[in-house]
Amino acid sequence: MATPNDPLARLDAMNEKALQGGGAARIQKQHEGGKLTARERIDLLLDPGSFVEIGRFVQHRCTDFGMENQRFLGDGVITGYGTVDGRKTFVFAQDFTVFGGSLSGAYAQKICKVMDMAMKVGAPVIGLNDSGGARIQEGVESLAGYADIFLKNTLASGVIPQISAIMGPCAGGAVYSPSITDFILMVEETSYMFITGPEVIKAVTHEEVTKEDLGGASAHATKSGVCHLTSPDDRTCIAQIREMLSYLPSNNQEDPPFKASSDPATREVPALDTMIPLESNRPYDVKEVIAAVVDDGTLFEIAEAYAANIVVGFARIGGRAVGIVANQPAVLAGVLDIDASKKAARFVRFCDCFNIPLVTLVDVPGFLPGTDQEYGGIITHGAKLLFAFAEATVPKVTVILRKAYGGAYDVMASKHIRADINFAFPMAEIAVMGPDGAVNIIRKSEIAKAENPEATRQAFIAEYKERFANPYKAAELGYIDEVIYPRTLRARLHASLEMLKDKRDSNPPKKHSNIPL
Ligand code: HXC
Repeated sequence: MATPNDPLARLDAMNEKALQGGGAARIQKQHEGGKLTARERIDLLLDPGSFVEIGRFVQHRCTDFGMENQRFLGDGVITGYGTVDGRKTFVFAQDFTVFGGSLSGAYAQKICKVMDMAMKVGAPVIGLNDSGGARIQEGVESLAGYADIFLKNTLASGVIPQISAIMGPCAGGAVYSPSITDFILMVEETSYMFITGPEVIKAVTHEEVTKEDLGGASAHATKSGVCHLTSPDDRTCIAQIREMLSYLPSNNQEDPPFKASSDPATREVPALDTMIPLESNRPYDVKEVIAAVVDDGTLFEIAEAYAANIVVGFARIGGRAVGIVANQPAVLAGVLDIDASKKAARFVRFCDCFNIPLVTLVDVPGFLPGTDQEYGGIITHGAKLLFAFAEATVPKVTVILRKAYGGAYDVMASKHIRADINFAFPMAEIAVMGPDGAVNIIRKSEIAKAENPEATRQAFIAEYKERFANPYKAAELGYIDEVIYPRTLRARLHASLEMLKDKRDSNPPKKHSNIPL
């Protein structure tokens, strides 16, 4: 029986109270809304029994608006560390049952504390976001707390992986912490992110839009590109985080974890010999090529629904994690446009930060022409991808599957921007532009004067194809290291990655580069 002087009983009581969060009624409301509580989410994220909480008894310091009478142990955010597949991982989970998960000064300090620890020991930080934003009663102390987190996010960028799951509201300036982190996952229907909500938009611009259309998972996964992965519920979202972590090193000094596979690294894929249509404008699904060559056919795709004309994601070859970047001929003929350039550039830079080799599969007709693209800044955005590939010092293996035309040939991890190994399939066409366009320009007057212009044009096209629309000129010049039998692609990629696994390369010393933002 506990007595007032029993220290253990007092601790028991405090622990018991802290575990109740905002109380049974608010927990029930959280469940009724289709959401798990912060503690339930942490339990799913971390290996069973591995969670160690830090700051369980922290409370806010606010004495305005009667807040001195409303205090909850932990103050609306649960922080600590544990393991994911046995690897140390830090976590903070915003507890919507306490003041709507809103952020106070004390709460921000809890988050900053685990971020500092994660940086010291070199382990990822996972943020599970579910918050009404700045704690209104705390005013500038809350804003300062956000800024403290933004700074830590920025300094941790490229040092430890940072992953944000949006599992409830995330509005106003609060969105900027997740956006500085490496990946954003959103739960469908229950989460949203926006700078200003529907009411403010209506007042300012008279535009009417629902919360879901404005900032729901689908809007950000398809239209803005802010969100990289969506899921139907909290459980799936957390499973995605665990899977993503399996491809990532714990920090920028480590290599990604090795995961042995029973899939033989030298496995030939005869179907690849005929998978790429010979007609250069016939579409095919590059994901079938990827599935054919990666371990167990598994691609962990990032931003699948945004700029689907380029495919990016994590996979393994011979047990080693790789970042795949592939033009997608099945969507917009695999053209590079603003969105595709931004999507791929960010992925390439992530992989380079965290020692994940890049495998680039090229089948690209060039950059998308048009005023929309030019006025939207395709020059600057396309340069992002070029810059990212050029700057990357991780092992880079490139395969030209079919078309590699114009500037896009250079951009897509060509030999000239420091790719280590460049392969081409025998059906590859490497040229300034496609045969039709080229012949119309350089043979214009001869075609015009010909007795039978179309037959003459076709003859010139055949001549051009023979001379340029193949990989042999590039191979002759050493820009292609080997023209390979498609069936050997997996074995070739594996051998290249093995050869490159101890690659060391660096950029000139500088404060930082100035990527065209
Ligand atoms: C203090 C808050 C709060 C906040 C919610 N609560 N948001 N308390 N500060 N920002 C409290 C509510 O008073 C309530 O307390 C409980 O959390 C649950 O809120 P409800 O409104 O009952 O929940 P719901 O109907 O689900 O609506 C959730 C919500 C709404 C959409 C998030 O609460 C809301 O609009 N909150 C304000 C959001 C906002 O404008 N935040 C500031 C954004 S700007 P009780 O005791 O009744 O359970 C910002 C700037 C950041 O964050 C700047 C960084 C640089």
